[in-house]
Amino acid sequence: VVTFFRADRPLILAHRGASRIAPENTLAAFRLALEQGADGLELDVQLSRDGVPVVFHDSELSRTTDGRGRISEKTLAELRTLDAGKWFDPRFAGERIPTLEEVFEAFGDRALYNIELKAFGVRDDGLVRAVVACVRRYGLVHRTLLSSFNPLTLRRAWRLAPEIPRGLLVDLDLPLPLRRAWLAFLVPHQARHLSFRMIDERTVSWCRRRGLAVVAWTVNDLQEAERLIRLRVDALITDDPALLVRLLGAQ
Ligand code: G3P
Ligand code: MG
Repeated sequence: VVTFFRADRPLILAHRGASRIAPENTLAAFRLALEQGADGLELDVQLSRDGVPVVFHDSELSRTTDGRGRISEKTLAELRTLDAGKWFDPRFAGERIPTLEEVFEAFGDRALYNIELKAFGVRDDGLVRAVVACVRRYGLVHRTLLSSFNPLTLRRAWRLAPEIPRGLLVDLDLPLPLRRAWLAFLVPHQARHLSFRMIDERTVSWCRRRGLAVVAWTVNDLQEAERLIRLRVDALITDDPALLVRLLGAQ
């Protein structure tokens, strides 16, 4: 469907890196995921107060760093002082919140990137523009798939960078009318990123008929992965890339 995907097997995308064994969204987690054989990285991106795209999942700092407060209220210099590893395990003390640029600098064209745009408001906060500029600067347009739960954010991405493929994230709590095809007209996208619980034969053929790739998240269970592979999904997002690499290798 899109050059990002492969025709012969689903891609394995590491959810926030190898987040089962390393602190999520850190360079350590990304490095381990690629060592384990993941094709790519799923990473969450939002803006620091001074407008730098940083890789971080929550809106609050407290779960995954030794800081407190909202990430959007901190400058990059402030974020750089925080430890993003030791909450997970003392062995990872010293891991920092990476900027998107640092991730590209570290892994470049050795990985595919599913950049999840964490922008929930209606107003444009500049996130899409900053991310697109970074992707282009590193020449990674063909290795990147943008995604978002926010259709407005995805629409912004389409307007700013139609050449970068996009996936619409859909969870079970999204009202049915919003899952429908008309959305693809307002917000052109090439992939549906569906909670794995939503994926069955019907969903897959619905997507196929519309030329949409199917990306399943977050798949950490062997039986579930086998089921999704049989349904021929295009990518599996997982906290445990080693498990899925073994499974695909055995098939
Ligand atoms: O992109 C798939 C998945 O990461 C979406 O949910 O909350 O883990 O970012 P979340
Ligand atoms: Mg995510």
